Amino acid sequence: MCGIVGYIGNRDSQEILIEGLKKLEYRGYDSAGIAVFTGSGLEIRKSKGRLAVLEGQLKEEPLAGSVGIGHTRWATHGKPSDVNSHPHTDNSAKFSVVHNGIVENYLDLKEELTAAGHNFVSETDTEVIAHLVADEYKGNIVEAVQRAVKRMRGAFALGVLTEYEPEKLVAVRFASPLVIGVGEGENFIGSDIPAILEHTRNVYILNDGEMAVLTREGVELMTTEGEFISKEIFHVDWDLVTAEKAGFDHFMLKEIHEQPKAYRDTMRGRVSDDGLSVTLGEIGMSDEQIKGIRKVQIVACGTAYHAGLVGKTIIERLARIPVETDVASEYRYRSPIITPDTLVIVVSQSGETADTLAALREAQRNGARVLAITNVVGSSVAREADHVLITWAGPEIAVASTKAYTSQLIAFYLFGIYLAQTLGTVEQAAVTELLAAMNQLPEQVESVLEQSAVLKQVAESIAKHKNLFFIGRGVDYAVAQEGSLKLKEISYIHSEAYAAGELKHGTLALIEDGIPVIALVTQEELYEKTLSNIKEVKARGAHVLGIANAGSEVEVGKSVDELFAIPKTLPLLSPAISVIPLQLISYYASLAVGNDVDKPRNLAKSVTVE
Ligand code: F6R
Repeated sequence: MCGIVGYIGNRDSQEILIEGLKKLEYRGYDSAGIAVFTGSGLEIRKSKGRLAVLEGQLKEEPLAGSVGIGHTRWATHGKPSDVNSHPHTDNSAKFSVVHNGIVENYLDLKEELTAAGHNFVSETDTEVIAHLVADEYKGNIVEAVQRAVKRMRGAFALGVLTEYEPEKLVAVRFASPLVIGVGEGENFIGSDIPAILEHTRNVYILNDGEMAVLTREGVELMTTEGEFISKEIFHVDWDLVTAEKAGFDHFMLKEIHEQPKAYRDTMRGRVSDDGLSVTLGEIGMSDEQIKGIRKVQIVACGTAYHAGLVGKTIIERLARIPVETDVASEYRYRSPIITPDTLVIVVSQSGETADTLAALREAQRNGARVLAITNVVGSSVAREADHVLITWAGPEIAVASTKAYTSQLIAFYLFGIYLAQTLGTVEQAAVTELLAAMNQLPEQVESVLEQSAVLKQVAESIAKHKNLFFIGRGVDYAVAQEGSLKLKEISYIHSEAYAAGELKHGTLALIEDGIPVIALVTQEELYEKTLSNIKEVKARGAHVLGIANAGSEVEVGKSVDELFAIPKTLPLLSPAISVIPLQLISYYASLAVGNDVDKPRNLAKSVTVE
């Protein structure tokens, strides 16, 4: 996690760094800092807390200079505090480092450096890097960084400055994202493109083991082994406005409302004009490769994993291929059976999640082909996977994922149909019906969004409780898990998602008078069973909100206390609609308890540590 920016040019760097950090705050926001070459050398301002705290400090004591680095932190080693904030420096204060990632052997390095006379003031692994570079410095900062990196293990992206060579900014990428922005008479580094987009649309995307030496005049690219390389400039053609709030109070609300567009964009060009088939030639998977798939493993984290749970049902139902789903942080350690005829699907909004990336690499090491479903073109996951299916949700800024999740669902529907058509496992009539129903989804979502006021009221009453349950069967259970995660992460209200039929095997003991239960009841063939489970909780005092298909008001309505009707679609497609009221309930519950909706405590948008 953490966000890095850097600037070298002729303009005052302080504002450029702060504005860049604002675009990266989603990567971590427990502390922030900048280092700038001023008339008196390399000066640092940093502090615990949101970026606004640092801004206040800089108002009092500005840093004037045209070369600098900045950082916004999500703590890994050492609690959020002023001293643990980046940039870090060595004892001579001649070197300054910003870092994203983890140096796994930092304790060993710290011991070695301490024995060599270095004194440390923070608990961080990053401070070790500053000392290490200083230790390796023999008159050439590039070589010093190369030697330092050789001694480090882990995942990191770095920005390094030294007072000895104030005309250079050195950047390194080793398993944590970093891009280089190329300007005119000025150059930039950033953990992510929005940090520098205001200044340039021309970027180099560094790969692992690559570094860049930036001067005002240009950028030199090389490996950390010192071999010069050349790269194509990546021209960014999306614009910053898409990454701003566009009149909504919060990014999350904006992104919830962007879902109809995200559905259309993710489907665009992938469904034939006659509505009869899915065309996914772009992923480069041959018919032969598809016919050779014997097993699918879907691996992801958090919300993306929940999309994978729905993806399992989609692929099994449509393509009749067995699917396993794994949380990425568990996958490698369960010794999964990965064979060359396994297709591993990694799902990641950011494309930078360390656990997911590690799973991808493990799968490839074992000979499997990997398909990445990701929202970020040029992300690590996209670059390393054998096949890529982009979700065109656009930049997602709120920490709580909404439009990325539903776009992942759309990607799974498209891919499931594509597999089924290639394998001949589904009749044409069923495909035509599915595609026609998918076409309706954006409008159906819009009609749910129009009922936000009702969901706000529901959320306000839920926000008075400390615990609640989400229940459902089949894909409703998968959506229940996403609803529960969303509520927990932004409202901090405890909730659990349960397979409706499983409650009676223990959890029913927790149902007491007045406890809210949100029951998803969209799967007609399971109505009766789910309604019985609803009666079990109601008999024990639960207050049940049913989320059910329009048209089932009478049947479901008589078993619940309140009912929110959603437009009816095919059972397999219902997650793409039923999750919307859950997102809105979470959003309004978070508002009702007065939380920072877009930046919930303890979390970060892109989790690049394992
Ligand atoms: C929750 C949320 C997280 C992410 C997870 C994976 O709202 O956003 O659970 O889904 O950290 O992130 P990506 O999809 O970027 O790999």
